[in-house]
Amino acid sequence: DWTMGSFIDQTCEEVRQQVGDDHVILGLSGGVDSSVAAALLHKAIGDQLTCVFVNNGLLRSNEAETVQRVFGDNFHVKLKYVDASTRFLKKLKGVTDPERKRKIIGNEFVRVFEDATKQLTRGKKSKFKFLAQGTLYPDVIESVAIGGNPASLIKSHHNVGGLPKNMKFKLVEPLRQLFKDEVREVGAQLGLPKEIVQRQPFPGPGLAVRILGEITKERLRILREADAIVVAEMKASDWYYRVWQSFAALLPVRSVGVMGDERTYAQTIAVRIVESQDGMTADWVRLPYDVLAKISSRIINEVKGVNRVCYDISSKPPATIEWE
Ligand code: XMP
Repeated sequence: DWTMGSFIDQTCEEVRQQVGDDHVILGLSGGVDSSVAAALLHKAIGDQLTCVFVNNGLLRSNEAETVQRVFGDNFHVKLKYVDASTRFLKKLKGVTDPERKRKIIGNEFVRVFEDATKQLTRGKKSKFKFLAQGTLYPDVIESVAIGGNPASLIKSHHNVGGLPKNMKFKLVEPLRQLFKDEVREVGAQLGLPKEIVQRQPFPGPGLAVRILGEITKERLRILREADAIVVAEMKASDWYYRVWQSFAALLPVRSVGVMGDERTYAQTIAVRIVESQDGMTADWVRLPYDVLAKISSRIINEVKGVNRVCYDISSKPPATIEWE
C-alpha cells in the first residue's frame, strides 16, 4: 500500500534528522508495537539502534526464542537479551496478591533495564541519548485524557512505557500517529512475519496475571504447556487470528480425579477465549465444541499435573479478560 510505504520513507528520514549520530535504546517485548518500532528504527538508523529484551521468567513458551530468531538472526538488529528470570521469580516468591505481583514486576523491570543500559554503555563513548517507544496514537490520546484512569496507569506502568525517571533520555516515538491496524500494515511491509504483526495482545506482567496464587517454577511449567496447546489448537483450527485473545489460566484449585485405577488430586486450567474491539469490553467466543474438546483432551493428556479444564463463559464487564 503506497500510503504506508511513504509513511515508512518519511518517518525514516525524520528519525535520521532527530537522532543524528547518536544512539537509541529500545525495550523490545516482542509485542506488535515495540516490534514494529524496532524494525522501523532499524531501517532508519541500523546499528545506532540497540534493543533490550528482558526475559522476566513470565514469558510464554518459545517467546524469547522467537524474538531472538526474528530480530537477531533475520533482521540483524543489535539485540541484548537479558535473562532476569531468577531475579523476578525470587522477588515473587510467596506472593499471592495480584497488585503486589504487578508492583514487584514493574519495579524489577525498571531496575533490570537500567542495569542493562549501564552495562551496554560501560567503557564506551557512545551513550544512549534516545529512548524509543512504540507509542501509538490512541496511547497519546489516552495519556492526555487520562484523568486518573487506573486502567491506563496500570498499563503504562507495566509496559516498557513509564521508564527510568532518573535516566535522561529524549524520546523517539515513530508510531505515534498510527492506529493499531496501520502499525500492523507497516510491520508487514517491513517484512515482519505474521506471527508477530498479527499476534494477540499479551500483558506486560506476563503469565503472572494468569496464575492465581503463588508463582512457582512448577506452576509456570504447567501454565506454559497448557497455553501452548491452546495457541496451537487455535492456529490449527484457524480461530487464532479471528479472536482478540485466547489463552490458558491456572486456577488456585486442586480437585479429585481418576486416572486408570489411581485417584488424582491435581490442578485446574481455565481456557479464556474472547472477542473484543479494544479490550475495554469483551465477550466469550462461541467456539465450536470440537475445538474445545481437542484443547481440553490435549491439556489433560499432555500436561502433567492437570486433571480438569474449564471454559470461561463470562463477559467483560463484570469479569476482566485476564485472571489475576
Ligand atoms: P483486563 O484483564 O483488565 O485486560 O480485562 C484488558 C486488556 O489489557 C491487557 N492487559 C495488559 N496489557 N499491561 C498490558 O500491556 C498490563 O499490565 C495489562 N493488564 C491487562 C489484557 O491482556 C487485555 O487485552
